[in-house]
Amino acid sequence: MNDDTLLIENIPIEGTFPEGGLVSVWTLNRPDKLNSLNSDSHKALKEACDLAEYNDLIRVIIITGAPPNPPLDGKKPKPHSFAAGADISEFVGKNSDDVRPFFEDNAWEKVWNLSKPTIAMIDGFALGGGTELALSCDIRIASNRSKFGTPEINLGLIPGGGGTQRLCRLIGYGKALEMVLTGDMIDSEKALSCGLINSVTTPEDLKETTMKLAENIAKKSPYTTKVAKRAVRASLDLPFSEGVRMERSEFVALFDTEDKEIGVNAFLNRESPKWLGK
Ligand code: COA
Repeated sequence: MNDDTLLIENIPIEGTFPEGGLVSVWTLNRPDKLNSLNSDSHKALKEACDLAEYNDLIRVIIITGAPPNPPLDGKKPKPHSFAAGADISEFVGKNSDDVRPFFEDNAWEKVWNLSKPTIAMIDGFALGGGTELALSCDIRIASNRSKFGTPEINLGLIPGGGGTQRLCRLIGYGKALEMVLTGDMIDSEKALSCGLINSVTTPEDLKETTMKLAENIAKKSPYTTKVAKRAVRASLDLPFSEGVRMERSEFVALFDTEDKEIGVNAFLNRESPKWLGK
């Protein structure tokens, strides 16, 4: 961690400043429990979202899982994980009234609703709520040893963090239902071929590949980046013709921004744009 480190509960937030803005890295930090998401993780993620939304320096957010700790003497090493789901130990003996408030105000939705671009950097298991957290991000980059799945069916449950809806929109009805009904895991290669993830790297290259992508996005106008995310996101909810109209209106409105004038003039003068974010 460096001087830019912010600490919110058990999610250390590291930052690097590429030219332009801050890439904020949030690490789920319960490697002994495969970074499974307990109520503290949700609280910390939600607080991190609030902070990132209103901190103008933060341009892109990367969410990842801490690597395993060295094994204790005589114990088998724990596997690499992004997040192996919700913390199942918190489900014991709970009824619907107990869990409803938690699930109605959860971190998956908060991450999904961030106006800034988010990237899931996945090395290892992304299961259940872990796959759902990755789905709540805009882009997913995974190592070739990662595994994805929605195993809730094996617990007598279904995904509860938006997984059925986001998975279906990302990979299609048939493949989503196959994953939800079987609870079986798929590897990175299969996840790439069905569109669940954007790209695959070796574990060694994962951080560099993800940072390069994040830094590329962080160099754009922060204002235009939000408009771009809002426009593409709207396609999930709007009928096609309405979506095209909405895009046109967002596009035209950008002609009133200073960043459009800065970007266009920088291109014509062969300079790098110095965005104002407005
Ligand atoms: N919630 C709570 N604890 C979890 C967990 C979860 N979702 N996933 C793993 N853990 C814990 C295990 O209980 C174990 O704790 P312990 O060492 O204190 O006993 C530790 O993490 C390591 O897991 P373990 O099962 O021993 O590792 P493994 O390599 O044998 O298996 C998995 C890895 C991912 C296949 C297995 O842990 C698993 O199936 N996890 C649950 C996945 C799931 O159903 N997620 C959806 C939840 S809704």
